Amino acid sequence: MVGETIRIEELRIKKIEEGTVIDHIPAGYALSVLKILNISGKEGFTVSIAMNVPSRKLKKKDIVKIEKRELKEEEVNKIALIAPTATINIIKDYKVIKKRRITLPSVIENILKCINPRCITNSPREKVTTKFLVINNKPVKLKCKYCGTILELEDIISQF
Ligand code: CTP
Ligand code: ZN
Repeated sequence: MVGETIRIEELRIKKIEEGTVIDHIPAGYALSVLKILNISGKEGFTVSIAMNVPSRKLKKKDIVKIEKRELKEEEVNKIALIAPTATINIIKDYKVIKKRRITLPSVIENILKCINPRCITNSPREKVTTKFLVINNKPVKLKCKYCGTILELEDIISQF
């Protein structure tokens, strides 16, 4: 645009007219974000992905731009687990109308399964929903409230 400073990342992927830009994703995690969103490419809407792009804040980052699609709250909560640095930008008429920094809640309920097969939350007889305490943010570390088992990033990604 005239009068605007053109930055390297803007040269890599075009601005979008309407939709969602998930920015500042840790480098290498764009495809995990698409997996969380259940986007395979067969849906028909335009998706642009940039991986390992230079970034002032993160050194390197990934970006996902999804045209004509907004995110559900549950999807944002899942993205927070693997990309706590991400920002979610809602775009309308080429403008950022809403910018949201992702925050990880201190307790994660119901989204994940405990990896301990003997945990009470995995017993078919008991109807106990999972609850994990966030004991570290970056890198993410969760602790099952019921059995104390620790879930790390790879344990989380493999569930999505
Ligand atoms: N963006 C886009 N299409 C638009 C507007 C913005 O794809 N029509 C993208 C930008 O390329 C950027 C993100 O949305 O990746 C956020 O845009 P903006 O807030 O303008 O950038 P920054 O000021 O760099 O944001 P931040 O402070 O979050 O880094
Ligand atoms: Zn457990």
